[in-house]
Amino acid sequence: MNLPLHDFFTQDHRRLESILEKAIQTQPEIDLALYSEFRIGLLTHIKMEEKIFFLAAQRANDNVPLPFAAQLRLEHGAITALLVPSPTQELVHVLMHVLDKHDEVEEKQGGMYEACEKLTQQETQELLLQLKAVTPVPVHPHNDAPIAMEAAKRALLRAGYNYDEIVQHLNQ
Ligand SMILES: [Fe+2]
Ligand SMILES: [Fe+2]
Repeated sequence: MNLPLHDFFTQDHRRLESILEKAIQTQPEIDLALYSEFRIGLLTHIKMEEKIFFLAAQRANDNVPLPFAAQLRLEHGAITALLVPSPTQELVHVLMHVLDKHDEVEEKQGGMYEACEKLTQQETQELLLQLKAVTPVPVHPHNDAPIAMEAAKRALLRAGYNYDEIVQHLNQ
């Protein structure tokens, strides 16, 4: 089956992963220019999902939210909050852990992208045009106040992830 929107977003996942992998190749140093490219790309990706693709699917579904939508939105909030503090090895590890699970729910057979693609079959080309026209989101500088990290941890908990537990597993 031809799934242009699924492919569009899945390719963007792989593109962002490879930028992040390059940014951390020099660990413990993180390449901040590459990390910035990753951060803007990921925030723009989330915007394309929430404001265009998922929204169009919900509209086509008589405005009834799709089964995965609420959880994915919580995860988008958590991911966005994790992008606020400056990256550390620890933070990037947690981010990759969440992204792995998140992207899987979107990409898998019977997952979010497939459901959205089916619902929007009448407007695939128009959605692709809209997606390609999206400009990168503007970002604020990193905020390293403790409150920013606390907010990220709380957003993660709301999405079902415990930052400190994920870090502990890393250190075991
Ligand atoms: Fe997403
Ligand atoms: Fe995605």
